[in-house]
Amino acid sequence: MNIQTARRTKPLMPGFGVEIFDVDIATADQRTLADVVSTFHRHGAIVLRGQTLDQPAQLAFTRLFGEPEDNARKEYCDPAYPQIYVISNKTVNGKPIGDPAAGLGWHTDNSYSKLPALCTMLHALDVPPEGSDTLLSDLCAVWDALPAERQRALDGLVLHHSYVALAEKKKQPLTDELRANYPDVFHPLVRRHPTDGRKALWVSTGTVRGVVGMPNPEGVDLINELVAFATQEQFIYRHKWQVGDVLIWDNRCTLHRGTPFDTVNHIRHVHRTWVRGDAPV
Ligand code: SIN
Repeated sequence: MNIQTARRTKPLMPGFGVEIFDVDIATADQRTLADVVSTFHRHGAIVLRGQTLDQPAQLAFTRLFGEPEDNARKEYCDPAYPQIYVISNKTVNGKPIGDPAAGLGWHTDNSYSKLPALCTMLHALDVPPEGSDTLLSDLCAVWDALPAERQRALDGLVLHHSYVALAEKKKQPLTDELRANYPDVFHPLVRRHPTDGRKALWVSTGTVRGVVGMPNPEGVDLINELVAFATQEQFIYRHKWQVGDVLIWDNRCTLHRGTPFDTVNHIRHVHRTWVRGDAPV
């Protein structure tokens, strides 16, 4: 992928992601922000450091990418701004104010919905000195690295995603409302990016019950094998957090996970927004 913008940028790793310099999101003009959005659509992920965004400013920036998406787990949403999901191990009066352990397994966001999240934006307000890195796998590079014969065998397979399966595995509360709002869905394993048609091996864990038309354990074994392949070092960008970072990744062509940190002695406080996506093709 070529960087076509005149803005000062640096690839996050060869062929994937861009760090964008000299942009203050809160005060940037519309042209600059449009340039940021267009860079995002071409590169899989972007990072802008040193940002100060309150909740309305983060939501306004999120809207430049599309419609902010709701979260299933209302208990961790900011009460005043429900489309902001709070990832935090802070407590107030002994009660958690956010999700202390979001996204610790490899996944792509909201894949249990008919319209999975187009992108995810994290804004870091407090970070520990070590750990809590966010890892992104470049699923287009993963697809390109597969032999042609394997690509032919995988193209056309469909995965069975399930919010219920995820909640059961994670022992998360499962109400009748959640079951009704999130019926099981079926998405292609190989996904085309709408901007330029590049293909991604759109595999995931957590929500995936199996492969349509393939009995288990064969189906889940295939998924596990593909996730192991997709999460090799050469496909991974590791984001090391600083306060003020904004990291946005494109869920249409990446897999991601959070990593642990010392939650007893340190605080991590991050605001997350999602943008509603299209039906995967
Ligand atoms: C997520 O998967 O939504 C969050 C990942 C992270 O906190 O690093």
